[in-house]
Amino acid sequence: MDKPRAVLFDAYGTLFDVYSVGLLAEQLFPGQGAKLAQVWRDKQIEYTRLVTTSDHGRHYEPFWQLTERALIYAIKLIEPAARDRWSEYTERSQRLMNQYRHLSAFPENRAVLQALKDKGIRTGILSNGDPEMLGIAVRSAHLEDVLDHVISVDPIRLYKTCPEAYALGESATGFTRDQIVFVSSNAWDALAATWFGFRTLWVNRLNLPFEEFGTLPERTGRNLKDVLGFFD
Ligand code: LAC
Repeated sequence: MDKPRAVLFDAYGTLFDVYSVGLLAEQLFPGQGAKLAQVWRDKQIEYTRLVTTSDHGRHYEPFWQLTERALIYAIKLIEPAARDRWSEYTERSQRLMNQYRHLSAFPENRAVLQALKDKGIRTGILSNGDPEMLGIAVRSAHLEDVLDHVISVDPIRLYKTCPEAYALGESATGFTRDQIVFVSSNAWDALAATWFGFRTLWVNRLNLPFEEFGTLPERTGRNLKDVLGFFD
């Protein structure tokens, strides 16, 4: 197989570490941080699917808004009192949203992105995140100079796993899907990207099982460094 020409990364959980959000959640909701973080993440992704599959995207909202809606839901689930007295929870909610805005990058990212650039490989993000939140995350993590593209699904108002969302990777880079490696820590994202026709790496940071559809990603790794295996 020919060597890939570009590598596109998912953002949240793949390039940016959402772990700190769980730590703050535990601080703000003692004993319930892990559950809150999990429900928040699951709802956030569920809402992207809800708005993408309902009425041809008429209910689309940017990822930041869906992330906030998902957080409110998660807090109301774990703290029933919040359903009637939301004003007592707004400050904690805002602190969690602020933490989400300024996520740190995983430690190996910079060196991996730099190694790809040194090989002449095009690099980028292909994310459900909206342009503003992605811009802040990239700047907070000081990754501007090692990313050629920051591609958001926002202009087409359809979230991954729609094929139109993955196709943005082809139009932005000018390469075809078989020339592009897509990297995600989210198994569902790695699966759908494989179905789309990208070459894929699933970064299984959390030692989870893969999705049960019989299709596997081209490669599975434990951190971002494993993407360099495509170029050996
Ligand atoms: C993204 C989310 C799904 O960055 O992690 O697209």
